[in-house]
Amino acid sequence: MSAYQIPFNKPCLVGNELEYIAQAVQNQHISGDGIFSRKCHTWFEQQFSVRKVLLTTSCTHALEMAAFLVDIQPGDEVIVPSFTFVSTVNAFVIRGARPMFIDIRPDTLNLDETLLERLITPRTKAILVVHYAGVGCEMDAILNIAQRHNIPVVEDNAHGLFGKYKGNFLGTFGSLATQSFHETKNVTCGEGGALLINDPLYMERAEILREKGTNRSRFFRGQVDKYTWVDLGSSYLPSDILAAFLYAQLEKSSEIQARRRQIWNMYFTRLQDWAEESSVRLPYVPDHCDQPYHMFYMLLPSLKYRQALIYHLKSTGILAVFHYLPLHASDMGRKHGGQPGDCPVTEDISDRLLRLPFYFDLTEDEQSLVIETVKSFQF
Ligand SMILES: Cc1ncc(COP(=O)(O)O)c(C=O)c1O
Repeated sequence: MSAYQIPFNKPCLVGNELEYIAQAVQNQHISGDGIFSRKCHTWFEQQFSVRKVLLTTSCTHALEMAAFLVDIQPGDEVIVPSFTFVSTVNAFVIRGARPMFIDIRPDTLNLDETLLERLITPRTKAILVVHYAGVGCEMDAILNIAQRHNIPVVEDNAHGLFGKYKGNFLGTFGSLATQSFHETKNVTCGEGGALLINDPLYMERAEILREKGTNRSRFFRGQVDKYTWVDLGSSYLPSDILAAFLYAQLEKSSEIQARRRQIWNMYFTRLQDWAEESSVRLPYVPDHCDQPYHMFYMLLPSLKYRQALIYHLKSTGILAVFHYLPLHASDMGRKHGGQPGDCPVTEDISDRLLRLPFYFDLTEDEQSLVIETVKSFQF
């Protein structure tokens, strides 16, 4: 049980999760790539028209696979927003990459594509984009630059399942894309992720990397008569028990998305006037982006007010949280040459951003309490 009357996030059962877990056990296959994993793969491939989707144990691990696949070697550079979760960059740094941190746009909080080209060098091995809150980055401009320099784009789409940019699903633009099914995400299995492979170049090696560097997937398909060690790799397959939980949530994804849309819209409409009067900025979604209603954030006028509002909500039993600390100014970021001041928009936004409770089971009364408590905050 949470110590808060209204926690920031709450996992929930939306359909057949427990029944499918029991079925996975009855199927006598609870290791990876059982019946439910295959159902999830097919669901994603059909839903998003992606060539190949592989479930992984987390988005972090899907990003690690991406770093293997784009063949990061020590000294290679990757361009990555400073305003992201540590895994976006760490997955590449553990293969020896040097992060080149890029600032974000003040409106969508996504990588600022106008700064991209100047960071490209002959050592640039990948451009990592993060669709913050599931609002699409400016993919036309980013892909244009990436294609001219022949550099693969990897989409960290941890927030953006079901989001669209100019009518196309996020996760379908980069050579590779990654998803998260962590407990805080719209669709979850506790801990989980997926690698979306759009460039066929990476398809065969991805299977091998995920199966500990062996060609076991080919063996299971009957394409070879025994399997052996053929490449580098690790163990990135989730248990079919997790896939069973995830598949039950995928089946209910329309319902999940519809409810999250209501929650997001209620926050937006009921906070709009207050925000305007209080110089608080609410999320911005460009017309050409469809957002997946993953998060509701607000930008307070200063760090002082952000902290005070968190405290004000906490004293009423409501957990609101800030988000990423600038990576370029972190201990590791500074070891890689980052310095405070390098990404001024990131530093400013990081100080002022606050996220409100947002989960499927949040009732209208609970949400009203959050809204009224926010509005009662004295500046
Ligand atoms: C942008 C981003 N990428 C990656 C991750 C890591 O996801 P996971 O916990 O599935 O490894 C997160 C975590 O929330 C995230 O926000």
